[in-house]
Amino acid sequence: MTPVCSLLYCRPGFEKETASEIMQLTQAHNIIGYIKAKPDSGYVGFYPTPPVDLAEFNRLIKYEKMIFARQFLFVSEIINNLPVKDRVTPLLAAIQKMELTFNNIFFETPDTNEGKKLSSFCKKFSTPFTIALERKNLINKKSEWRLHLFFLSSSAVYISISQIENSSPEIMGIKRLHFPKTAPSRSTLKLEEAFKTMLNEKEQNDYLKNGMTAVDLGACPGGWTWQLVNRSMLVSAIDNGAMDKALMESGQVKEIKADGFKYLPEKPVDWLVCDMVERPMHITRLISKWLTGGHCKYAAFNLKLPMKKRYDMVMDCKEYISQELNSFNISYKIYIKHLYHDREEVTCIILLK
Ligand SMILES: C[S@@+](CC[C@H](N)C(=O)[O-])C[C@H]1O[C@@H](n2cnc3c(N)ncnc32)[C@H](O)[C@@H]1O
Repeated sequence: MTPVCSLLYCRPGFEKETASEIMQLTQAHNIIGYIKAKPDSGYVGFYPTPPVDLAEFNRLIKYEKMIFARQFLFVSEIINNLPVKDRVTPLLAAIQKMELTFNNIFFETPDTNEGKKLSSFCKKFSTPFTIALERKNLINKKSEWRLHLFFLSSSAVYISISQIENSSPEIMGIKRLHFPKTAPSRSTLKLEEAFKTMLNEKEQNDYLKNGMTAVDLGACPGGWTWQLVNRSMLVSAIDNGAMDKALMESGQVKEIKADGFKYLPEKPVDWLVCDMVERPMHITRLISKWLTGGHCKYAAFNLKLPMKKRYDMVMDCKEYISQELNSFNISYKIYIKHLYHDREEVTCIILLK
């Protein structure tokens, strides 16, 4: 199959950042192309100059390197005039032309109010259409490809595929999480999503262990601390505000009234987590200081992005971290993602090796 374009999903309002990101990733491999994106649409198209080699494109451009894109797809065809009376026949014909089988199929829409209105249509359409695909032997659990039908309306659809290993496993690229009833704030979902989407299962087991120690800078009321306590860690919560009483009753939290930019632990800890609302470079310098000073081995933190040049700012922070850690010969892994539960911010995890 020769893709018409690559399709990237994002949070509405972050099309510019997603476009900058795919342009940078493709330019690094001399893939030339142009962008089609509408503000607040929740998706971006990257149109590479033909001829396009799908296998090569997929090998060079890695979803795990993407910060702002929630999903990374290849579009085989865009249909704008699906007949109301029979959508199945033309869709099946277009899908068969790809000469592929699919591990699974996702019925999706942009993450916009318009998109939400289409969710009941997608639900109704999904069962008969999946049966139609099965009848044509197009579903094959061994296939490395997933089929995505991305509906802009009940008659307009992007027929797309993603390689399972090089895409988000979540429908619409969104990890749905239930708010834990006893967590003190909704922020808790940011750290939970960060751990569950950025770290693979082995990393979650290796790096989030019973009895580990952590410092939470800007901890109140305790949503992030709750995630660490829930993983049986011992946490020092640094803030001048008040922590949630029930969380303190766990006996795993020590409350310290101090300035998060000045506090340092007496003994090194495993994790530093930080959700203080401050300029991103200020936070970046602080985290780098903890890592290079040996005060922690792992860090999870938020970079708030209220400015216009959000993509450039994230790149500057990433570059600063790289220069600092490299100058101390420290090997590390960094994950940065604009999570579903992030708004004007991105979440980062750094693991020292
Ligand atoms: C967004 S809230 C943190 C929410 C928290 N992560 C949660 O899940 O409940 C930011 C917190 O940082 C604290 N903060 C801001 N500047 C600080 C500083 N210099 N030192 C310590 N805490 C600070 C604020 O008091 C506030 O409680």
